Amino acid sequence: MSVFAEKLIAWQQVHGRHDLPWQQTRDPYAVWVSEIMLQQTQVSAVIGYYGRFMARFPTIASLAEAPQDDVMQHWSGLGYYSRARNLHHAAQTIMREHGGIFPQDFAQIQSLKGIGRSTAAAVSVFAFQQPQTILDGNVKRVLARLHAVDGWPGLPLIEKRLWVLAESLLPEKNLPAYIQGLMDFGATLCTRSKPRCQDCPMQGECQAFQQQRVAQLPASKPR
Ligand code: ADE
Repeated sequence: MSVFAEKLIAWQQVHGRHDLPWQQTRDPYAVWVSEIMLQQTQVSAVIGYYGRFMARFPTIASLAEAPQDDVMQHWSGLGYYSRARNLHHAAQTIMREHGGIFPQDFAQIQSLKGIGRSTAAAVSVFAFQQPQTILDGNVKRVLARLHAVDGWPGLPLIEKRLWVLAESLLPEKNLPAYIQGLMDFGATLCTRSKPRCQDCPMQGECQAFQQQRVAQLPASKPR
């Protein structure tokens, strides 16, 4: 296992989030709903919506059968409403094409409406313990610093490098803790404008830190 993965898992066990409602289940439907809500919304805002949504639509079938108005009402206030329309649509796809069972195949998960590679990976890891990696904005920043990757992470070539790097770092054990650790570490310690390098156990592995380029990485969008 990479030293980075080992230290990140240890960090997660002490400083990461363990008690969120969607972390108490491996039901792929519940994990999926939480990941969609968390895409553009902070954890603190999601918690209440998640509880009400799951109480009203506890299964894929109940969501698929619900009127769209009802689904939208339960999303009202969360924003980015295409997320709710896509969720509803994908629930109907799962009923029609997968017999109501959330698919385990990675390509099938990714082909559902509203699920990109990173969200598919999060569901695969948390629900099915399959070895996949995420790469959202926070993770791009963490990895760009760790390996001092130059170039704006929005560029296809840089993004491709970061996916390859992310895959190479995946541990064989404790995968869910590692993936949750990546998210939480990027959100709380390795932040964009005020990273807390003094508290970071991966300082010794971080090339940006060694080169004193943490503030310059990742590179911003060229203009
Ligand atoms: N953002 C996306 N997925 C998340 C998760 N599982 N925990 C915290 N933040 C997230």
